[in-house]
Amino acid sequence: MRFTVVIFDLDGVIVSTDEYHYLSWKKIADREGIVFNRDINNRLRGVSRMESLAIILEKASREYSANEKEVLAATKNALYREALTELTEQDLLPGIKETISELKKRYIKIAIGSSSKNTALILKQVGLAHEFDAVVDGNDIKNSKPDPEVFLLAAARMGAAPEQCLVVEDADSGVDAAIRAGMKVAGVGQAAANSKASFALGSVKDILAFVGC
Ligand code: BG6
Ligand code: MG
Repeated sequence: MRFTVVIFDLDGVIVSTDEYHYLSWKKIADREGIVFNRDINNRLRGVSRMESLAIILEKASREYSANEKEVLAATKNALYREALTELTEQDLLPGIKETISELKKRYIKIAIGSSSKNTALILKQVGLAHEFDAVVDGNDIKNSKPDPEVFLLAAARMGAAPEQCLVVEDADSGVDAAIRAGMKVAGVGQAAANSKASFALGSVKDILAFVGC
């Protein structure tokens, strides 16, 4: 298989933001008296902000209006962005820098395909703002994963056909999105155990064994 493009998910693949998301949502849930724990947080991986809130509100004892939901999501995002100011290169997941640098040496194009609307801030904080050939994020799409839109747009921006692209994902919703985009997907973290992924990675750098060599 000859991949010419690797599309990386951001949260959970390039950088570990789980705890920042968790703590910000936890503050909101605690203020509202809604049960929220790390198991529920795991279900938010790859899912958009408003869909994440909908999952959290499954445990609420009352209905929330559209306006209340907007306020809760905006408050969570303000807390999250404040927490992201603490994010540094140290939060990059193991092997990311070496993998990016080796893919460039092999003339493989690299892109980000993320549901997050905070992608630009996160890339800046970890020092990767200028490393990718294309960045497609939650601001560019109407439908978040498992819809294939984010990956199809990334491929289009790279001028690549889906079969030329390898997606690297940590979320089951992202694995489904990649498959629906007609792309092969390598699962890392939680998604390494997803039987729908074409490759199971112990670490992101494992893709160097089969991409561009
Ligand atoms: C995804 C995360 O990358 O982005 C989700 O895995 C998150 O947990 C989603 O809900 C949206 O993030 P943001 O930064 O736009 O609130
Ligand atoms: Mg992810």
